[in-house]
Amino acid sequence: MIILEGVSKVYHGSVYALRDVSLHIKRGECCFLRGPSGAGKTTLLKLMYALEYPTSGQIFIQDRDITGMDFLNIQAIRRHTGFVFQDFKLIDDWSVYDNAAVILEILGKTSAYIRGRVWKMLKWVGLQHRVYERAGDLSGGERQRLALVRSIIHDPDILLADEPVGSLDDDMGRYIMNMFYRLHKKGMTMIVASHREDPVMDFARVIHLDRGRILAE
Ligand SMILES: Nc1ncnc2c1ncn2[C@@H]1O[C@H](COP(=O)(O)OP(=O)(O)OP(=O)(O)O)[C@@H](O)[C@H]1O
Ligand SMILES: [Mg+2]
Repeated sequence: MIILEGVSKVYHGSVYALRDVSLHIKRGECCFLRGPSGAGKTTLLKLMYALEYPTSGQIFIQDRDITGMDFLNIQAIRRHTGFVFQDFKLIDDWSVYDNAAVILEILGKTSAYIRGRVWKMLKWVGLQHRVYERAGDLSGGERQRLALVRSIIHDPDILLADEPVGSLDDDMGRYIMNMFYRLHKKGMTMIVASHREDPVMDFARVIHLDRGRILAE
């Protein structure tokens, strides 16, 4: 489903974020990326979403080489992928509802469908009482839950999540990890960068990164 072959990423000609990383992720697999700050976790996720391009090596998503792909084809692949950004990238002046709905609107879904889906998903993460508030007025944990909803609202095949429980307390972290488990059971392929050690992650494959290299699994 996702294949990296000898991928390196060098920023500004000298900062090695990833060195010769090869990785095969099967359909339906759930992978946790572990590693200290600066190990290259975010870079790896960004490469899989074509937000950055590798300096060398190749990346295949669903059997298609995205390394030199044009924008329209990248957009088509992103329709089947969700991305949770480490810094959320919510639109603060918009309501919770509008932040959650925007992708479905871009995809041209009917307003009745959008209403139903947005309510269902916000309820799922316990944000239904904040639907009409400004996203900028939410707490850190609420913003994180909204970011997660936004990334999976279009029911993607692949979910890339960058520290999705980073600013949650233990209970909410476990709750979100449980949601990942349920998405995994539904067959979603997931790659999650996380510092968190949590028993619910027994179902996951754990990949350790350090200074741009895969150390161990
Ligand atoms: N846009 C960029 N320009 C230059 N250097 C960058 C850029 N993005 C990342 N780097 C560098 O690449 C390396 C890997 O960074 P990356 O953000 O992928 O690590 P990370 O594992 O996600 O860290 P953290 O746990 O702190 O989020 C670091 O040395 C970082 O400084
Ligand atoms: Mg990071």
